[in-house]
Amino acid sequence: MKKINLIAITIIFALILSSCESTQVAGEIGTNTAAQKPSSSASVDEPSPDAYGQGSVIVRPDDGRTVVGISMPDKLLERWNHDGIFLKEHFEKEGCEVVLKYANNLIDTQINDIRSMIDEGADLLVITAVDGAALSSILGKAKSQGIKIVAYDRLLMNSDAVDYYVSYDNYKVGVLQAEYIIAALGLKNSKDSKNIEFVTGDPVDNNARYFYQGAVDTLFPYLENGKLKVISNQQGFYDTSTAQWSSDIAQQRLQIILNSYYPENVRLDAVLCANDSTALGATRAIDSDYAGTNKVIVTGQDADVPNIYNIIEGKQSMTVFKALRDESVVAVALGLALLADDSPDGQLIANSGWNFDCTYNTTDYDNGSKVVPSFLLSPITITKDNLEKELFDTGYYSRNRAGLIYAVE
Ligand code: BGC
Repeated sequence: MKKINLIAITIIFALILSSCESTQVAGEIGTNTAAQKPSSSASVDEPSPDAYGQGSVIVRPDDGRTVVGISMPDKLLERWNHDGIFLKEHFEKEGCEVVLKYANNLIDTQINDIRSMIDEGADLLVITAVDGAALSSILGKAKSQGIKIVAYDRLLMNSDAVDYYVSYDNYKVGVLQAEYIIAALGLKNSKDSKNIEFVTGDPVDNNARYFYQGAVDTLFPYLENGKLKVISNQQGFYDTSTAQWSSDIAQQRLQIILNSYYPENVRLDAVLCANDSTALGATRAIDSDYAGTNKVIVTGQDADVPNIYNIIEGKQSMTVFKALRDESVVAVALGLALLADDSPDGQLIANSGWNFDCTYNTTDYDNGSKVVPSFLLSPITITKDNLEKELFDTGYYSRNRAGLIYAVE
């Protein structure tokens, strides 16, 4: 699919450039002790965009392969394992060669992963960033070599190199969590006030802000009229955030809140958790440190298997399901269109025959450098009541002979 001409001088130039890059990579690894550091844009010592020769388009030799680089954040969270598998399988079925790498939640590792994909001749990059704002330079390098870039699930920030964004409607995820709480606590008709705490996501993940905003916008009338109270007073996005979406960090923060603000006579009614890894931490904290006996409403997102068990057992009240298989189908369709040099728009959906909702959005996802055209799928609420129908009858999940639940790949 490459339409690149073989000009000897260009190859020589590319070789010289790639040997310069090797030096750069070695330098970064050598000075990088970030392996133990939490993610943060500030921790990245990236070379300036000029170091990548942006502006001068480097023509790569056509080797007849179509290479797709898939860069995922980590293997710790259940979902990225499935996303990686789905994307790889779909692209391979279409005849692409796939390089799939996991960054272990480390920004520097992800930059090196992407750099090696470029060196391996990637034509298309599908990236879920550890830190959405930390990849601008390497994305600039990819763009300068004519590589197409799709931001997968998490928006890539501060870069005009991003061609498209594929995700679920992130704001709606927060809305669904908040709507569940409003209904479960009967806030519309209740005269009493209820107590809620917030456990939000990783601040370097752009999605976390959308989840939070969707939730607080929806809860706002009740927070304002006093029907919902946050006893800890920790309500802002940063105050309530959870580095790396870690279950342990979520658990520790909620344990401190429970011990400091919820003695036996103070009731906790709900914990708005942004996703299932934070919900796992929250349910553990409630099990170990909540003095009350009422059932605390706990929200989540992703339908991770341990959380499905918790929903069945009543420890978690809901999760927001985002069918990863569908998200990867959209990303692959989009990626193939880009590889064929198309500039897809809403017509991609119209022509697709997909049996799920997807909208084309050209207004809402501004990454600081451009409004990135986006394909957005629609998340749904899962509770004990619709879990069989929405997760199992649809074939997304199944049970093995021993009755254990697993996500179908
Ligand atoms: C994803 C969520 C996921 C979270 C933690 C977010 O960007 O949209 O599905 O739970 O990252 O990995």
